[in-house]
Amino acid sequence: MSKKELIFATHNAHKAEEIQSILGESFVVKTLTDIGIHEEIEEIGKELKDNAYIKSSYVYKKTGLNVFSDDTGLEVTALNGAPGVYSARYAGDKKNDTENINLLLKNISSFEDKTAQFHTVMSLFWEGQHYYFNGVCKGIISSKRLGDNGFGYDPIFIPEGYTQSFAQMTPKQKNILSHRGRAIKEMTSFLLT
Ligand code: IMP
Repeated sequence: MSKKELIFATHNAHKAEEIQSILGESFVVKTLTDIGIHEEIEEIGKELKDNAYIKSSYVYKKTGLNVFSDDTGLEVTALNGAPGVYSARYAGDKKNDTENINLLLKNISSFEDKTAQFHTVMSLFWEGQHYYFNGVCKGIISSKRLGDNGFGYDPIFIPEGYTQSFAQMTPKQKNILSHRGRAIKEMTSFLLT
């Protein structure tokens, strides 16, 4: 059987490897770097799905290849869904995880409702058609940092039904229940059937 090529509109090789291992040998997942696209695609959308679409459609229009992209945000109920689409640069353009966490803890401290969710949207161009896939992981924001694994807001996010934060879990444990893991599962079950 011939392998099907799928471009992941990211420069992050680690993310591409994760998808490759789930899709298996009938697919070849390539990053933007692999296909010679070196520019940063500006994420100027007001919603996660806009940013996901901006990245995948940029590559689709340029190459005509099968391509997908993702965008993730942490949506905190008491903050009306913030930081949401602005999660990476909540405390400013430097994209500093520690400063983002500190600002979020400060902004949520006076609220009793600590519920939040991570939301991932994937945008896929497959054989000329466009599709969206979603993955959500509900949980609560802890009052302080817990654990050192992972990245982003992992040390302050405790998924529903657990007492440990994402940063206290192994990558394997986190991937099974995470927003991104769930969105990937949705997309891969579409691609594999
Ligand atoms: P991206 O769309 O995957 O680049 O994610 C945007 C931002 O959301 C990241 O810079 C992180 O701050 C946050 N984020 C995304 N996924 C996760 C996660 O799995 N754990 C913690 N933070 C995350």
